[in-house]
Amino acid sequence: MAAPAFLHCLLAIWLLSFAAHAQLTTDFYDDCCPSLEAIVRAGMNKAIRNERRIGASLLRLFFHDCFVQGCDGSVLLDAGGDGEKEAVPNNMSIRGFGVIDAIKASVEAVCPGVVSCADILAITARDGTFLLGGPTWRVPLGRRDSTKASKDLADMNLPPPTANLSTLIGLFDRQGLSPAEMTALSGAHTIGLAQCLNFNGRIYKDANIDPAFAALRRQTCPSSGNDNLAPIDVQTPGAFDAAYYRNLLAKRGLFQSDQALFNGGSEDALVRQYSANPALFRSDFAKAMIKMGNIHPLTGSAGEIRKNCHVVNS
Ligand code: HEM
Ligand SMILES: *[C@@H]1O[C@H](CO)[C@@H](O)[C@H](O)[C@H]1NC(C)=O
Ligand SMILES: *[C@@H]1O[C@H](CO)[C@@H](O)[C@H](O)[C@H]1NC(C)=O
Repeated sequence: MAAPAFLHCLLAIWLLSFAAHAQLTTDFYDDCCPSLEAIVRAGMNKAIRNERRIGASLLRLFFHDCFVQGCDGSVLLDAGGDGEKEAVPNNMSIRGFGVIDAIKASVEAVCPGVVSCADILAITARDGTFLLGGPTWRVPLGRRDSTKASKDLADMNLPPPTANLSTLIGLFDRQGLSPAEMTALSGAHTIGLAQCLNFNGRIYKDANIDPAFAALRRQTCPSSGNDNLAPIDVQTPGAFDAAYYRNLLAKRGLFQSDQALFNGGSEDALVRQYSANPALFRSDFAKAMIKMGNIHPLTGSAGEIRKNCHVVNS
């Protein structure tokens, strides 16, 4: 007779605690929390029905987790002024914590102490992408949660919207991601909104911008500061599609960092390809998300399974 699933589960977790560098696997919770993906999907469906943008916000939150110490849930920690939440690219900008809390509570109710906040965030990013019309993929799992966050690393590693192409390539290279993967991942800007302060330099000063697009954006965005929101993709902000790349061809990238991908440099050819071949973009995006999700995860006995995603276990 086969051993009951929960025994497999306990045995597997115990054995893995000896593995220093375990790989993430798509079946990690099959024995210990088989309903995990269904719980996250239900939570994301509810959240997106309530506010469509939240799918974009969680995709970005995962990116900002992975680029700082790896995909370890560090971005979720409240660290009283010294957390990643207070770093310049995140302050008053990253969002989605309430959805993570609600989903974590649903998961804890069924599988207490088993699933990391880092893994929940990884699945919400996939579900947010998919539920807004993007590709899907099986999410490798088995990350554990960090016991520390780093505001300084967040400030150093997260790309600013003013970055030029060489800066972007350098910041992604530091994470083991190629220029082509950077170009595919930037396609996430096909969904979501941005604050005026992140693009007023571009719409008031840049020359490589469609004048009608700049004039449109200036209507709701003064020349400095301001948190008024505008869609990053001027065509279809609520749909995950390849319009982002068509915008770049028309000089309608919202951030300087967006237009840097199509401004006479090394990524021009790939931007053209993605604009003409949405299926290629979808498949490259999914592959690059899996690779980004593999940035320095904590596995084995490293880190912990946080009970509350906001704080380290006591
Ligand atoms: C390539 C360098 C990147 C830069 C410079 C950048 C910068 C930004 C900025 C400045 C915003 C607006 C934030 C605000 O106004 O509050 C934003 C939004 C967003 N970013 Fe990026 N980003 C980059 C790459 C990525 C990647 C790799 C992803 C995901 C794979 C991503 C996903 C998003 C999403 C979905 C939003 C909208 C969020 C929302 O509506 O809440 N970005 N990004
Ligand atoms: C975050 O933004 C708020 C509101 O603009 C500001 O008061 C605070 O000083 C900022 N925090 C940091 C660490 O920059
Ligand atoms: C890109 O930006 C960096 C940092 O602002 C700067 O040092 C570098 O000279 C710029 N590179 C190009 C090619 O403009």
